[in-house]
Amino acid sequence: MRVTTRNVQEFKKKGQKFAVLTAYDYPTAKLVEEAGVPVILVGDSLGQVVLGYDSTVKVTMEEMLHHTKAVVRGTQRAMVVGDMPFLSYNLDEAQALSNAGRFLQEAGAQAVKLEGGVHVADTVKRITEAGIPVMGHIGLTPQSVHQLGGYRVQGKTSAEAHELVEDALALEAAGAFAVVLELIPASVAETISQRLTIPTIGIGAGVGCDAQVQVINDMLGLNTAFVPKHAKRYATLGDTMRDAIAAYAAEVQAGTFPTGKESFLTEDSILKDIPQA
Ligand code: KIV
Repeated sequence: MRVTTRNVQEFKKKGQKFAVLTAYDYPTAKLVEEAGVPVILVGDSLGQVVLGYDSTVKVTMEEMLHHTKAVVRGTQRAMVVGDMPFLSYNLDEAQALSNAGRFLQEAGAQAVKLEGGVHVADTVKRITEAGIPVMGHIGLTPQSVHQLGGYRVQGKTSAEAHELVEDALALEAAGAFAVVLELIPASVAETISQRLTIPTIGIGAGVGCDAQVQVINDMLGLNTAFVPKHAKRYATLGDTMRDAIAAYAAEVQAGTFPTGKESFLTEDSILKDIPQA
């Protein structure tokens, strides 16, 4: 049985903090689940950290579904949340509902995430009323990067902080089961977390949130060029991978790989009937 929205809400009731982590493929999802992470987000950060796009804006429904399917295949217990990409829920409620449904029906996810507050509350309501759990996402919403003028901390003035509280309350009232708070001051995130009965999941939003989410490539050190301020490197896998690949390439060049250990041997006599050049 997979983790359910009810389990997640019980975590909040009990004051039990929990980790959420992104994954985009089968082997990584397996490891994330084995490590005991209860909720896996197939984030549209996929676009930047896996597909090499310059923002999440270019990510398509087909790409998200393809990777969500792989994550679902790699897991049995974790809740898998599929991130609805740019413009897949903004045209009208029918489009939003149909695309949200594809994450559950075609990809096997248990929930979807979408960005926005008050202005997407009706859409969230429509989707949750159809039986599809929705995770909200406010603060820095990367799909609106061009409108926000960059990846900047949100909610730094009292007017902006007030708007964020209204956004969070609107999502809760619309039926969202959790809400991501991205890049907002810790004190604002803590206030929102206290006002809501559903869990808040912070990324760059301080320790006062009910849960935390990270992009797995950041925390494993897969991107050797850049670490966002909100991320902590728990490993340096990028360096480990590069060193391992370089060692392999050097051994191939030197003729020291493969050895007998990695080869399949048989009697030389089987060669006797093969015509020689
Ligand atoms: O796309 C993503 O990975 C996200 C998280 C950063 C919350 O939205």
